[in-house]
Amino acid sequence: MANDAAILDAFKDVKEEKVVDASKKVKVGIIGTGWIADAHAGSYKAQPDVEIVALADIVPGKAAAFAKKHGIEGARIYNSDEELLANEKDLDGVSICTYNCQHAPCAIRALEAGVNVMLEKPFTVTLDEAIEVMKAEKKSGKILTIGFQPRMSDNMQMIKKVVESGELGDVYYIQAGGGRRSGIPFPFGTTFIEKNTGGIGALGDIGCYSLDMLLGAVGYPKPLTCTGYVSDFFGKDPNYIGYQNAKHPEYAEKFGVDDFAAAFVRLEGGIILDFRISWAMHMDTCGDALILGTKGGLRIPSTECWNGEFTKPLTVYKSVAGKNVQYEIPYAPCGDLFGKKIRSFVDSIKEGGKPTVPSSEIVYNQAILDAISKSAAIGREIEIEIPEI
Ligand SMILES: NC(=O)c1ccc[n+]([C@@H]2O[C@H](COP(=O)([O-])OP(=O)(O)OC[C@H]3O[C@@H](n4cnc5c(N)ncnc54)[C@H](O)[C@@H]3O)[C@@H](O)[C@H]2O)c1
Repeated sequence: MANDAAILDAFKDVKEEKVVDASKKVKVGIIGTGWIADAHAGSYKAQPDVEIVALADIVPGKAAAFAKKHGIEGARIYNSDEELLANEKDLDGVSICTYNCQHAPCAIRALEAGVNVMLEKPFTVTLDEAIEVMKAEKKSGKILTIGFQPRMSDNMQMIKKVVESGELGDVYYIQAGGGRRSGIPFPFGTTFIEKNTGGIGALGDIGCYSLDMLLGAVGYPKPLTCTGYVSDFFGKDPNYIGYQNAKHPEYAEKFGVDDFAAAFVRLEGGIILDFRISWAMHMDTCGDALILGTKGGLRIPSTECWNGEFTKPLTVYKSVAGKNVQYEIPYAPCGDLFGKKIRSFVDSIKEGGKPTVPSSEIVYNQAILDAISKSAAIGREIEIEIPEI
C-alpha cells in the first residue's frame, strides 16, 4: 500500500513553495486608487517582502481614503503620478491602475523616473502610445509588465502546452469566443465608457484578454492585416437595461466607446484569427474559442470575461486510424491569480530577467486592437505596421 501511495504521489502536480527573503522590503507605489487598485493593494499587503510607501490619485482625498480603507496610513499621499514620482526617490516599483487613457503617460513618466512598472491591462489605447511606452522602457532598462493575471492560470498555460506539444500540428486558424451578453462595466463610475478615459470599450477591456489567451498560446505571431468592425448599439441606447437591471439614459449620453467588435486578422505564419468580443448583445455567448491545426483541434470553453476560469474541460479533437476521436483535458481551479501576478512582478524586480507578460508580446495584442478601431473607422481592410523600437 505504501508503494501505491508513492506511485500516486508521483502524479501530483508538485509545486515548490518559494521561500521569500523578507529581510529587505521592496518599496512600491500605486498610481490611481480606483476599483482595481484594491486588488493591487491587497496582493502587495499579502507579500512579506513588500511595503506600499506611496499612493496617488488626481481626485482630491481619494488616495487618503484608500490608505485608510487598506490600513496603510503610513503611505505618503500625492495628487498625481507626477507629484509621487518627483518626491519618491527610493521606489522599486509602481502599479499603474489608472483608466486606459492615462496608461501611456503614467507608464512613460514612471519609466523615465527609473521605476519598474506593473501596468494594468489593456497595454494602452493606441499602438502609437504602446510604442512610446516601449521606447521609454528600452531607455530606462527597467521592467515593464502588463497586468494580464489569466497568464498565471494553469488552464491558460495548458492551452499553450497543448499547442507546443505538437498534438495539433501546424495551427492555421484561431477563433475567439466568449464575450458578455449584458455586461457593460458599471457601477464603478463611467471611466470605462467615456472616450476620454476608457478610450476603447469591450475591445480593450476584455478583447485584450481573449487575444492574449489565444495569441500567447501560439507564440504571438505578428499581425499583418485586419478587417475590423465595432459597434455601440447597446451603450448608446437610453433604453438599454444592463446597468444594474435599470435604464440609465445619462450613461447612454456619456457612452463613447465600442460595446461589440469583430475582426478578421491575418497573422505571420499563415494563421487566421477570427475575432469577436462583446460587452452587450442579444446572444448568450459568441461561442467557444477554437484552435485548428493540421493534426488536431482544440475547443476552449466560452468564458465570460477571460479571468482564467473555465467551467468545462478543454477538448482535443483528432483523427486516429481514420476514426474521429476526442478527449478532454480536466480544468484546474484557478487559485489567486491576482496574487500570483503581483508576486511575479515583485520577483522580477528582485531577481531581474524577463517580466512574465512582456511588452514585446503585448505590442502585437495592442496592434490588433488598434487596427480593429482604424479599419472599422474607414470600413476596409488595412495593413498593420508596427514601428521598430
Ligand atoms: N486586471 C484586471 O482584472 C482589471 C480589472 C478591472 C480593471 N482593470 C484595469 O484597471 C484600470 C483601472 O480600472 P478601474 O476600474 O480601477 O478604474 P477607476 O476609474 O475606478 O480608477 C482609476 C483611477 O485612476 C485615477 N487617475 C487617473 N489618472 C491619474 C493620474 N495621472 N495620476 C493618479 N491617478 C490617476 C482616477 O482618478 C481613478 O481614481 C483600467 O485600465 C482597467 O482596464 C483591470
